[in-house]
Amino acid sequence: MSIRTICCIGAGYVGGPTMAVIADRCPGIQVTVVDLNQARIDAWNDPDLSKLPVYEPGLDAVVGRCRGRNLHFSTAVEPAIAAADMVFLSVNTPTKTKGVGAGQASDLRWIEASARQVAACAQGHTIVVEKSTLPVRTAETVQAILSAAQGDGASGGSPKTFAVLSNPEFLAEGTAIPDLEQPDRVLIGGDDPAAIEALAGVYGQWVPNDRILRTNLWSSELSKLTANAFLAQRISSINAIAALCEATGADVQEVAHAIGADSRIGRKFLKAGPGFGGSCFQKDILNLVYLCGHYGLHEVAAYWQSVVDLNSWQQHRIARLVVQRLFGTVTGKRIAVLGFAFKANTNDTRESPAIRICRDLLEEGASLFIYDPKVKSEQISSDLPETSQIVDSLNCPEAVGKWYLAKSVNDAVYQADAVIILTEWPEFADLDWSTIYTYMRHPSWLFDTRCATNWPQAVEVGFSVWVIGKGIVSNLRMR
Ligand code: NAD
Ligand code: UGA
Repeated sequence: MSIRTICCIGAGYVGGPTMAVIADRCPGIQVTVVDLNQARIDAWNDPDLSKLPVYEPGLDAVVGRCRGRNLHFSTAVEPAIAAADMVFLSVNTPTKTKGVGAGQASDLRWIEASARQVAACAQGHTIVVEKSTLPVRTAETVQAILSAAQGDGASGGSPKTFAVLSNPEFLAEGTAIPDLEQPDRVLIGGDDPAAIEALAGVYGQWVPNDRILRTNLWSSELSKLTANAFLAQRISSINAIAALCEATGADVQEVAHAIGADSRIGRKFLKAGPGFGGSCFQKDILNLVYLCGHYGLHEVAAYWQSVVDLNSWQQHRIARLVVQRLFGTVTGKRIAVLGFAFKANTNDTRESPAIRICRDLLEEGASLFIYDPKVKSEQISSDLPETSQIVDSLNCPEAVGKWYLAKSVNDAVYQADAVIILTEWPEFADLDWSTIYTYMRHPSWLFDTRCATNWPQAVEVGFSVWVIGKGIVSNLRMR
């Protein structure tokens, strides 16, 4: 079966970029991305490509090439499903906040709702592809919902039939376009060979066949959770060693380099930092923990839970050590926070380590002057809900425990006691610490939680400097 029309339900960080690349690489397929969120769809349709709702390097060019040709964004969900040979479910699957499994299990209400919509609106034979990250055996639920509608002939049309596939997405934010254009692998799980080959035929238009892996449904669903758990585990491992380096005089970058030279370990994903963020690592591990508990594998659950626990500890540890170094109190002190996104090259702040670290510092009474090249003030407001924003930075007598969105690095560091680097934006690598030093209150501290700055220059010009996995690299100078 050759696919001519695709509908993707969910125009988020995955649905938007993934479908844009499919449309770009498969000019013979009409791709429609639908979402309930009108504002999001309007932003995808904005003539100004710098206003797309997802910031990804290279995405604007891909959307610019295909939009209106064979890539469409719409809130008209039903006709898009009806017209589709293949429907991707790319909706959100956050951690449940209430009920059984709250705090661990995935909330599958959006997957269920979209499967029901497909069941109601599909016509003829439709291949339904799970693109969202899901607990192993979710395809059973999707199949059950679709089976209940199977055979209902649309008035006079051919009866409905369905095939369900799992095709998890492995893109990372910030590198979504290269990850989609040259994936390490594409994973397709299913038990219907014709459906598997139809989807493989879509990817086969740009991905070499030996990179398209075919498995059963459950292996595919579980491989996605496992991949994220392994990646997150590496970060917790190196962050644990970073703390030990700071205590012993070892240097985590040298340790990472030394162990990464072992080809069995490899060099990637060994950067110590303020802890992993992003919408998925924590949610997916918690989901794994829940599944293990469900199957009575309590030791396995505890093992994976420790990866998340270490990550939370790392974030609180950083906030605590900033307070300690600033003479045990930050009440009323100005602290410049550089970076709020969970990593560079994205405007996404979901589970960003900056949220927990800023919250801890605000609770201690600090005034935070936050600068991020891509994150907007409304986003920070919603991430720090119980706090107040300073509107006028030059006239803020009551700034204790409040934050201000700075327009530039210089705006953020003015009269600050400390600078904390929380995201490794490339522009922070070249900051001129001698100029920044003149704007700050002295003694001045730099806390580089990403080892992403020219911190030796900061030491040189008089800063007291703490770097992740190295500890204090200068002693406080008495001036
Ligand atoms: P997202 O929240 O950015 O987007 C999901 C979209 O689905 C939202 O815009 C929402 O309005 C829409 N939606 C929900 N229910 C709908 C319905 N019934 N009809 C129409 N639209 C509906 O989420 P995301 O980051 O794109 O993640 C989607 C899935 O992909 C999750 O399962 C996630 O774990 C997985 N994933 C995410 C990433 C990533 O980098 N963000 C990477 C790999 C996998
Ligand atoms: C991650 C995975 O890398 C993707 O393969 C997966 O598809 C995706 O989750 C998902 O399922 O959502 P993402 O969260 O976008 O992608 O970004 P990563 O590059 O993995 O970074 C995650 C977090 O780990 C960031 O906060 C980053 O700063 C941190 N990190 C990463 C480190 O602290 N050290 C590293 O060495 C690497």
